[in-house]
Amino acid sequence: MAKVAVIYYSKSGNTRKMAQLVAEGCRQVAGTEVAMMELPELDMEVVLGADGYCLGSPDYFSYMAGHMKTFFDDALAYKGELSGRPCVAFGTHGGGAKVLDSLERLSQAIGLRQVRPGMMCANAPGPGDTDDVRGLGHALAGAISK
Ligand SMILES: Cc1cc2nc3c(=O)[nH]c(=O)nc-3n(C[C@H](O)[C@H](O)[C@H](O)COP(=O)(O)O)c2cc1C
Repeated sequence: MAKVAVIYYSKSGNTRKMAQLVAEGCRQVAGTEVAMMELPELDMEVVLGADGYCLGSPDYFSYMAGHMKTFFDDALAYKGELSGRPCVAFGTHGGGAKVLDSLERLSQAIGLRQVRPGMMCANAPGPGDTDDVRGLGHALAGAISK
């Protein structure tokens, strides 16, 4: 059983909707179990027990949200264990679309290996985004089973 942790922050629900679609995409790969973690709720044991990660945040001032930054600050202590594990990043924004830069840079800083370029949606994902967002999760889960 491949285990994916979807770790994200959402204040007004847009990134949560995206996280749910990413998780659906992960589950499309047979044998994948998904743990949803909406920050600040976090279980580091579950994080360390996962085989891959989907990391999401709203764009706050052209950066990730503070709770997400705190996650990376804390996760750095586990870089040795996380090193080489696959990840993808996702984010929502209000028009600036800068959040992926910081998510992808800090994912790399804690040792994770990005398996596919991340994806952003303007505000909540719309009907036209659904397949692409699910596809991101599918790609991550597929990278684990290989
Ligand atoms: C404090 C704050 C700062 C924001 N800064 C930006 C920004 O710099 N660029 C941008 O495109 N959107 C910005 N936004 C808009 C949010 O990124 C956007 O509404 C996002 O979809 C909210 O996600 P959520 O519903 O998951 O909380 C900001 C919103 C807030 C509350």
